[in-house]
Amino acid sequence: MLKGKKIVLGITGSIAAYKSCLIIRELIKKGAEVQVVITPAGKEFITPITLSALTHKPVISEFFSQRDGTWNSHVDIGLWADAMVIAPATASTIGKMANGIADNMLITTYLSMKAPVFIAPAMDLDMFAHPSTQKNLRTLQDYGNQIIEPGTGFLASTLEGKGRMEEPVNIVAKLEEYFSKQEKKDLLGKKILITAGPTYEKIDPVRFIGNYSSGKMGLALAEECASRGADVELVCGPISAKLTKEYPNIHRTDVESAQQMYEACKAIYPSMDAGILCAAVADFTPEVVAEQKIKRTGEDMVIRLKPNPDIAKSLGEMKEKGQILVGFALETNDEENNAQGKLKKKNFDFIVLNSLRDEGAGFRTDTNKISIISANDKKDFPLKTKKEVAEDIVNELTIHN
Ligand code: PMT
Repeated sequence: MLKGKKIVLGITGSIAAYKSCLIIRELIKKGAEVQVVITPAGKEFITPITLSALTHKPVISEFFSQRDGTWNSHVDIGLWADAMVIAPATASTIGKMANGIADNMLITTYLSMKAPVFIAPAMDLDMFAHPSTQKNLRTLQDYGNQIIEPGTGFLASTLEGKGRMEEPVNIVAKLEEYFSKQEKKDLLGKKILITAGPTYEKIDPVRFIGNYSSGKMGLALAEECASRGADVELVCGPISAKLTKEYPNIHRTDVESAQQMYEACKAIYPSMDAGILCAAVADFTPEVVAEQKIKRTGEDMVIRLKPNPDIAKSLGEMKEKGQILVGFALETNDEENNAQGKLKKKNFDFIVLNSLRDEGAGFRTDTNKISIISANDKKDFPLKTKKEVAEDIVNELTIHN
């Protein structure tokens, strides 16, 4: 996976700098080419001679080469690399990266970097837990950089054990995972319908019945399918969450109500290889939509609701041989039985169960905890980021393919 890959390794002034030798050794062993860029503080912890002996390349630390005054081009390094890893990354470097303070070669290289950047923080827990560090790390995540930490790999909810640099083998494993995904185009040529977000059912011009779905789970699924080569038809209820980048192979249709989502899905599904129905669709809608804003009268207010179409059930009935249909079940009690019921009733190939009884699962969070249930199998997964959950679901889809 790493054979022939060009990796820029940024080293900063942390006691964990000695571990960068292990990162280099591991990368070289796996066939990668490594260019070290080190900060002045980094050189206090490890010598460039050691590093260049390991990488078989001069270490870059100054804007000018000290021997002959040649200009070290951060732009060229940014173009050369397939990935940049900053390990260890101190609070100071993280702060400079988040704020564009380009006062050393490592930061200028980071700012010119065209390849993905992985950051392995290394500091004591108090520094790591400080709101400033957390804010900077979130900023870097928003810039699309990946933070590699020991444990769960996502920020904030629990800080216990954080701050320490992730082990070199795990840092290298993250890179391998990234490159293996890059190469994994197992959905090339497949067309996949994905529904995401809530639906809004209008009561009057200013009010609606809705739910808490943010669309995050559906967007993560769309990105996972698209990055593995599929052409994605994304049918989205009203959400403010965004895709992390633009994908030419995601075609998005925005809808508001369950009826609109139903019509869009019914038109799209016949030409699809698979459908993943992640949207939280309202089961009922007001029988009458008031033309004007309903006024307070002092009396009780009754809104009569009628059932909405069941999109999943209709697609399940339309499903042709060779097509796959995946549903979700969001439950609050008797989870497995309810999910089993929906699996059969809606003719899903498998159903993804998430329960509001599990902390960090379901609506709005960046994490989810799921079980994948099919006619004769059940797989339970731990709490993961929605991105990772999407990967598990799509892996399951490829098994049913
Ligand atoms: O958007 P997030 O904030 O990230 O939250 C993600 C999520 C919790 C919304 C998601 O993980 C999830 O569970 N989505 C399904 C929610 C839901 O409506 O579940 P349900 O058990 O009510 O519906 C069962 C299945 O039928 C679902 O696939 C649903 O999309 C589908 N359905 C339901 C009603 C309806 N009228 N038409 C449908 O197609």
